[in-house]
Amino acid sequence: MPTLHWLTRDKDIAASSLAPYRLLEAVETYGDDPETQNMLIHGDNLDALKALLPFYAGKIKCIYIDPPYNTQSAFEHYDDNLEHTEWLSMMYPRFELLRDLLSESGLIWVNLDDNEAHYTKIILDEIFGRKNFVANVIWQKRTSPDARATISDAHDHILVYAKDFETIRANLNKIELDEAQRAKYKNPDNDRRGPWVSTDFTAQGYRPNQMYKITTPGGTEYHPPEGRCWANLESVFNNLVANNKIWFGKKGNSRPRIKNFLSDAQGLTPWTWWGNQDVGHNQEAKKEINKLFGAGNAFDTPKPERLIKRILHVSTTPGDIVLDSFLGSGTTAAVAHKMDRNYIGIEMGEHAETHCLPRLKKSDRWGTGGNLRSTGMGGWWLIQILPIG
Ligand SMILES: C[S@@+](CC[C@H](N)C(=O)[O-])C[C@H]1O[C@@H](n2cnc3c(N)ncnc32)[C@H](O)[C@@H]1O
Repeated sequence: MPTLHWLTRDKDIAASSLAPYRLLEAVETYGDDPETQNMLIHGDNLDALKALLPFYAGKIKCIYIDPPYNTQSAFEHYDDNLEHTEWLSMMYPRFELLRDLLSESGLIWVNLDDNEAHYTKIILDEIFGRKNFVANVIWQKRTSPDARATISDAHDHILVYAKDFETIRANLNKIELDEAQRAKYKNPDNDRRGPWVSTDFTAQGYRPNQMYKITTPGGTEYHPPEGRCWANLESVFNNLVANNKIWFGKKGNSRPRIKNFLSDAQGLTPWTWWGNQDVGHNQEAKKEINKLFGAGNAFDTPKPERLIKRILHVSTTPGDIVLDSFLGSGTTAAVAHKMDRNYIGIEMGEHAETHCLPRLKKSDRWGTGGNLRSTGMGGWWLIQILPIG
């Protein structure tokens, strides 16, 4: 398999196994659940991930990371200007440890921009296996172009890999329909099963037993259009007609369409386009963080809570463990906390204590509709990594 090469590759591929096991020390517990396993770890994530390995290997259901993008910027709370080789060298061993922590039914979501996303795809193909690549989600992070740019970037890449694609293939959660999507369901024939939307009753290709003639109630005859066949066998079609699940239009003479009821809708299959109306954008994230800490004390590069909510919704259920090893201002931990997921957040900057900790203290759990539900704060440990010797 083709692999990516850089100056220090040989050293870097040995780094995760050579990193010493260090101990994690619980400093303080917070919240109202003294039995909690939730953790906020203050320290370098290479040490922290290695220290977690003996206890959490194969147990993490969802990993979301938003590492420094290598934009050559110096942000107030952290530097984002590693040389390209240094960035790859930093990430390779961490990806290996993250893979080992992920459960068989787990997903990792890696949020990057064009600076490093394409190099990272090749590294992740090597570490997770090409067959475990799930998707490159395009998150529309801006609302308008940056006038100073040559071609302004509108999106980030979120590379998604499974530990084992076959295990998750049919097991991800659907995205709940929003008001606008629900409003598309109508009931023009007063069907007692409630509102529905119709979809085309054809499929691509030529299947000899799906090429039959259909006669509508008004007497019009239809054959499948060029290059397509009907969606099912004639016996299945007749059954659908008998159950009033085929729609021939108000006058009963249109091409057949199949009725899909709102009551059966399990939500939308996630796809790779995540627009900013649905999952938020950079300015929304800034507003959230300013509201928490005040504009003077905010964090430079937060992610919107709605983005993380979508990721956790698709890939976890309450009680699963979520890990973010580049925690920043604590968005992933706060959202996991609100959604009743367990979490481990790792951050090496001082903002682990100045931002993540107070943010968790302000977080309460969400109800199913995303509204606040007062069932207590849950709890978490503040953990430090002990030096060796
Ligand atoms: C882009 S920010 C993450 C922002 C976060 N998603 C949020 O919503 O606030 C990247 C973070 O990774 C942290 N970081 C960088 N290298 C790290 C390392 N080796 N160990 C732990 N944290 C690290 C930085 O201090 C920074 O806070």
